[in-house]
Parts: sequence; structure tokens; C-alpha cells
Amino acid sequence: MLVAGKAFLVSDVLDEVFDKVTGSRIFRNRDILSPDYIPDRLPHRENEIRRLGSIVAQALKGSRPNNVFIYGLTGTGKTAVTLYVLRRLVARARDLGVDVVYAYVNTRQRDTPYRVLADIASAVGLRVPFTGLSTAEVYARLVRALSRRSGVLIVVLDEVDWLVRRRGDDLLYKLTRIGYELPRNAMKVSIIGITNDVKFVEMLDARVRSSLGEEELVFPPYNAQQLRDILWERAVEAFYPGVVDDAVISYCAALAAREHGDARRALDLLRVAGEIAEREGAERVTVEHVRAAWAQLERDRVYEVVSTLPLHARLTLLAIIAKVRERGVATTGEVYDAYAKLAEAVGVERVTQRRVSDIINELDMLGIINARVVSRGRYGKTRIISLSVDADTVLEALRSDPRLEELAALLRRGGRRLLQA
Ligand SMILES: Nc1ncnc2c1ncn2[C@@H]1O[C@H](COP(=O)(O)OP(=O)(O)OP(=O)(O)O)[C@@H](O)[C@H]1O
Ligand SMILES: [Mg+2]
Repeated sequence: MLVAGKAFLVSDVLDEVFDKVTGSRIFRNRDILSPDYIPDRLPHRENEIRRLGSIVAQALKGSRPNNVFIYGLTGTGKTAVTLYVLRRLVARARDLGVDVVYAYVNTRQRDTPYRVLADIASAVGLRVPFTGLSTAEVYARLVRALSRRSGVLIVVLDEVDWLVRRRGDDLLYKLTRIGYELPRNAMKVSIIGITNDVKFVEMLDARVRSSLGEEELVFPPYNAQQLRDILWERAVEAFYPGVVDDAVISYCAALAAREHGDARRALDLLRVAGEIAEREGAERVTVEHVRAAWAQLERDRVYEVVSTLPLHARLTLLAIIAKVRERGVATTGEVYDAYAKLAEAVGVERVTQRRVSDIINELDMLGIINARVVSRGRYGKTRIISLSVDADTVLEALRSDPRLEELAALLRRGGRRLLQA
């Protein structure tokens, strides 16, 4: 009886939760705001679509399109535009009876040469076991499969910097030259490499760089007005009429444009704001919901970044917070001194100032801090460091590290004496 009673209660709670969502008049189709949804129209990317389209169009005549290197900051539509263009290309090729296929590989997810090759192979109908073969063997099988086919294969290596950073550029080199290993009437292979990492180009061997970059496309960030257009286009389908208004859309666009015009962030904001409104049982999304969504996304982002940081980066971050709490900003030297004390406090050997300086760069790149180089006349240059995110959120995230729990808690309570001890 008791068990049945409990089950009844639980299902009651669930019914309530289910009713809230099914009865909600907020989302008509929430998936339209999900990051991997590719809309039918991509406003403000007409130029990029046209350029990429005119490059890959060669495939419709059976020629190998030039390789393309696509670069642009995160959320500027690189993946969306590329997939959009390739889907349309393949559809047109089918109409024309031309053999054009593409393989899309995100090398952040498929992070070994073996997996990348296996994905490419499967695009041309070749099954490769999950393990058991050498990478060289997979490559050889791919070459054989391509030799037996004709037409054009376009390989998209998205977030290709991840592969190269971890595994070097061997595979990229081989793929850009695979044509030399194939007979004349084999399938032709062209590569589209995508990255959002400025430093990536410098990392590449000159030969790889010149063959991958036969064509280069740079995606500029969106401005707030462009983000508004993008959001409206998606919002009209995602929400019921009247649920969002221009104030809400503009606010999402303005927040997302503050760092750089990142459409993913803008869409995430709008989606999460809608979710919050739905959970509250509200009838429409308000600017307040967007504000709450921003706080939630910031928090998620900080937690995610902090969870990937190694110990010395965490200590450096703690040192920065301690110093910034005192005076609003800190210099590299001050941060290093504070870091050294913290390292001692947790009983680990400190790393060099040079290394901490690199860590500061990395934290800056991750968007957690802001490090600005200033000249101090004849004393050379230093960096003025401030936090780009809420200090308490960072401390909260750092507290989940048992080694830092106490220090983070102390700082959270404003403990200035921490560094004097
Ligand atoms: N012009 C646009 N119109 C409509 N939606 C867009 C547009 N540009 C980007 N988006 C949407 O914004 C999100 C991010 O875009 P996308 O994934 O293409 O960014 P990206 O440049 O590949 O970023 P990253 O470097 O982080 O991979 C996706 O949901 C995409 O559909
Ligand atoms: Mg992408």
C-alpha cells in the first residue's frame, strides 16, 4: 500500500511537470533554437554562401573543387554555412546525376586520425571496424575505395585545430595530397578545413597551409542588428505568436554582441530564457527571463572552463581573484607573488613566472580574465589583469576541487589575510 501510495505521489508530481510543458504556450518547436539545427535561411551570410557555393560548384562538373580554409570566431556561422552549402550541392548533383558526396567530421569529437579516416571511409560506403586495424591500413583501404569510384568527395574537417594540436598535421598533409596516390579517373578529393583559432594557422607546416588554403574564407562576427535578424527568423518558428517581442530579441542580441557577435550565444540565450519562462508557467518571455538566462549560461560556462583547468591554472586564477579583490586589477608580477604563496599553502611546487604568464594568456583566451598589455616606459611592459566573469561564480566552481576548497571558501568570505599568512 505504502509503495503504491508513494508511486501515486510521484506520478502526480510528474503529471504536473508534464502538464506544464505540454500545456505551455511558449515553445511551438523548441528544436529550432537548438545549436545543431540548420535553418533554411541564413541571413547575413549571403556573401559567404555565394563564395563557398561557387568554389564547390566545380564538383557538379566532375572537377575537384579547390581546398578551402575557413576561419572565423565562434558562432559566426561557419559550420551552419558549410553544411547548408554542401547539402544543397549534393541535392543538385543528384538532380544532375553526378556523383558528389561529402564527409563531415568534427575533429573535436573524432579526435584520432583513425576515427577521422573511418568517418571519411563511411561516406564512400566503406565500413571500417571501430578498432583492430592500423591507421595506415585504414588509409590504404580508403585509397582503394576511392580508386574504384568516380565523382567528387568533399571532406569537411571541422574544428580541425583540435586534431592538429593533439596529433600534428600528418593526416591533414596526407589528405591534401591524396590525389597524387589515386589513378586519374578515381574519385577526386577536396578538403574544407574549419577553425575558430587564430593561432592555428601559425601552427601549420607551410606546405599544409598552402595546400589547404587554396581558397580562404573569413567569417566576420555579427553585429547586434544582424543578430536581431537571425534571432527573429528563428523565433517566429520556435515560439507561439506574441510570446517574444522586440525588446526580448534586442536584449538577447545586445548581450551576445557584447563580446563578439556570436549567434550561438544569442540563440542559447533566447532558448534558455524560453525554458525559464516555461518552467515558471509564464505566458510570455520577458527581459527578466533573458537576464536570468544570461546568469545561468555564464555560470555553466565558468563551471565548464574551470573544470578543465589544471591545478596551477586554478591556483593562478585564485591568485588573480585575491589580487583583484584588493584593488580591482592586478599586474603579472603581483599575480605571480600571490600564486607562489597559494602554491605553498596547498603544498605543491610552484611553476616558473614564465609558465604563469602563459597561463594568464590561456585564461584570457578562455574569456575568464582580461589581460591588457600596458607600457611602463623604461620599466618595460606589464599586463593589467581583471576578471571578465563574476568572481563568486569562479570561486564556487573552484570549491569543487578538494585541494582548493578551503582557499576558495576563505576568499569567498573576502579573506584578505589569505595572502599575508
Ligand atoms: N546567419 C545565420 N542565420 C541563422 N542562424 C545562424 C546564422 N549564423 C549562425 N547561426 C546559428 O548559430 C549557431 C552557431 O553557428 P555555427 O555552429 O555555424 O557557428 P561556428 O562558426 O561553426 O562556431 P564554432 O567556431 O564555435 O564552431 C548555430 O545554431 C547556427 O545555426
Ligand atoms: Mg562550428
